[in-house]
Amino acid sequence: MIWDPDPEDLLEERVRELLERMTPEEKIGQLCLVNGAGGHVPDSLRWDIAGGHVGAVLNEVDLGTVNELQRVAVEESRLGIPLLIGRDVIHGFKTVFPIPVGQAATWNPDLIERGARLAALEAAAAGVNWTFAPMIDIGRDPRWGRIAETLGEDPHLASVLAVAMVRGFQEGALSEGHGIAACVKHFAGYGASESGRDYNTTDIPEIELRNVHLPPFRAAVDAGVASLMTSFSDLNGVPATANALLLEQILREEWGFDGFVVSDWDSVPQLAVHGLTADDRESAYEAAIAGLDMEMASGTYREHLATLVAEERISPHRLDAMAANVLRIKLRLGLSDRWHTDPGVFPVPGDPEHLDAARTTAVQSAVLLVNRDGVLPLSTHELESLAVIGPLADEPAEQLGTWVFDGDPQLSVTPLQALRELLGGSVELRYVRGMEMTRSWSTEGFAEAVDAVRGSDATVLFLGEEAILSGEAHCRADIRLPGVQEELIAELHAIGKPLVLVVMAGRPLALESVVDQVDAILYAWHPGSMAGPAIADLLFGEQSPSGKLPVTFPRVTGQIPIYYAHKNTGKPATPENVVHIDEIPRGADHHSAGGSSFHLDAGHTPLFPFGHGLTYTEFEYSDIRTSREVVSVGETLAVDVDVTNAGGREAEEVAQLYVRDPVASVTRPVRELKGFQRIRLAPGETRTLSFELHTDDLAFHGRDMRRRTEPGRFHVWIGGSSQAHLGTEFEISHPSEE
Ligand code: GLC
Repeated sequence: MIWDPDPEDLLEERVRELLERMTPEEKIGQLCLVNGAGGHVPDSLRWDIAGGHVGAVLNEVDLGTVNELQRVAVEESRLGIPLLIGRDVIHGFKTVFPIPVGQAATWNPDLIERGARLAALEAAAAGVNWTFAPMIDIGRDPRWGRIAETLGEDPHLASVLAVAMVRGFQEGALSEGHGIAACVKHFAGYGASESGRDYNTTDIPEIELRNVHLPPFRAAVDAGVASLMTSFSDLNGVPATANALLLEQILREEWGFDGFVVSDWDSVPQLAVHGLTADDRESAYEAAIAGLDMEMASGTYREHLATLVAEERISPHRLDAMAANVLRIKLRLGLSDRWHTDPGVFPVPGDPEHLDAARTTAVQSAVLLVNRDGVLPLSTHELESLAVIGPLADEPAEQLGTWVFDGDPQLSVTPLQALRELLGGSVELRYVRGMEMTRSWSTEGFAEAVDAVRGSDATVLFLGEEAILSGEAHCRADIRLPGVQEELIAELHAIGKPLVLVVMAGRPLALESVVDQVDAILYAWHPGSMAGPAIADLLFGEQSPSGKLPVTFPRVTGQIPIYYAHKNTGKPATPENVVHIDEIPRGADHHSAGGSSFHLDAGHTPLFPFGHGLTYTEFEYSDIRTSREVVSVGETLAVDVDVTNAGGREAEEVAQLYVRDPVASVTRPVRELKGFQRIRLAPGETRTLSFELHTDDLAFHGRDMRRRTEPGRFHVWIGGSSQAHLGTEFEISHPSEE
């Protein structure tokens, strides 16, 4: 287990002892998560805690208030059980790291674990001992505002990074006694919300649910995550908050999870809004018997569970199990020994070590999408003047992104500030906002921007989305640059000078209409407190970009959903059989121009594929080879490749390994990521990388929902993106052949 102050058997004994002493009302109290009052303890909350009716509080981060809440629970309630104090510590606390989808672009689990650990320390200093993170829904629809919070579109990448975040929150800081419980969310399938509209219906075949959406949750459970949060969404007709397939069969019976499950905000009474139940009482019933342990914010459990147990609709054993799941985590957290928080034992907000970690993560999260004629890195020796244009160049709060309840914009260094610092007097810098906001429709600021660009040797544009345009309930039906940003780019492009676009956004944007009008695109997501120094370092070559896309970038919104691990279909599109709408001659016969899976006006390929990311050098892959041509089920295969830095700069690369199972009992994706390694090579250096593939890595759930690896031939590729072309084959032998 991740933490275990007590041996498991002692832990279970202590849980049993507690349960034996608890009344039904006190057991129900442990299942109630109530909202804090924000900086004070109202009498009603004090009485409820003293009366044993509250097990957890969320959204209270005033330390004095938290310590008083805990004191009431420990010293004034009959059993003295400490409270869980929950908060959305999603990508930092006061020091803000890049939004999770940006962190995923680092493909660096160690860096991500460190960021979570520092966030846990900052949050623990405010008395928080439970975070509603990491969010590990698979995100394949950039219209969905919450793709900003995901770890991308791929089950393998999201699983590896989910475990890193869980360890960072829960384990790493425990040595200082400040690990906080993690809560992976939203269980499950939330990322498949129809049309990318938040809270919308999800219809996911169980094979797809198990092969695509569940792996990160399984990985987190196997890594010892303390809790899960259910999704708001309706999953195949049964909302996740009352879905026994998820909460009982898969989570408990198949995976053996022994932590607790909490609802999302009011998602229990929302079961009636979905139309699953008639009222709060039935909602409490359906959620409890399906396996939901704790209720967030709403009070149906407090109101109705005792009656449901008294009426024998819910068994006392069920109630005991729910309370035991919560008590087990409180004991594992060692809350009884550390319910009072002494701020003096924590780093002060804005600790330089924390800001430096945020800066490193921001550097590694930025993805260089385009760099024509090596326009980047810029050089202070060659430039005499630089225009900095755009509504996101100097926005300390916007650069933090979504879900930053406690982020401190005072700690932010903006790109404009950092560029002024970096360039000093060596290069004349002219800053023009050009637009009030990214979503503005007015072009009145264009003239000043044009003037600045005309008078400068080069221009850096800071465009994209403000933080409010992504995150919960902030979905967009058209994911191009908002407002008149495309028009601004067109006007500045027409001037004909080097034009670099830096995008800050909470999602992939459809950039096809601007991609040929700029010389370089650096995709920075929302990079957090240290956006400025990170971007300035990358633009001027202090650092070489190394980020790789964790999500596919469509050309246009209409291509969504578009992702690399797609099925082949029976009529796959190829460059040979795709026809563009502009190529169809007048009078073309109605059945000509087609015959495969593509859009006449967008083709079949994304603008930028999963795993894509350029750098300031060139990496070459050669000599891919496997340790054996044939392996048996249960064995491990080594796949080696040579990687060379063929350019003139030291830089980092993320080498990615993909496989394909071309024939199986259910159709399998044309490619699947199964391994990656981040390496740093000096100019001219060649290194042999070795990947281990266990046959279990190739397993999938079949028609019978059983997970298995099937014999047969497999393709394997290794390269710098999901379009890697260097490949070979191997075979998993049929048992009869062994
Ligand atoms: C929200 C979100 C969830 C968050 C919770 C508490 O509605 O869906 O991700 O953790 O409420 O803030």
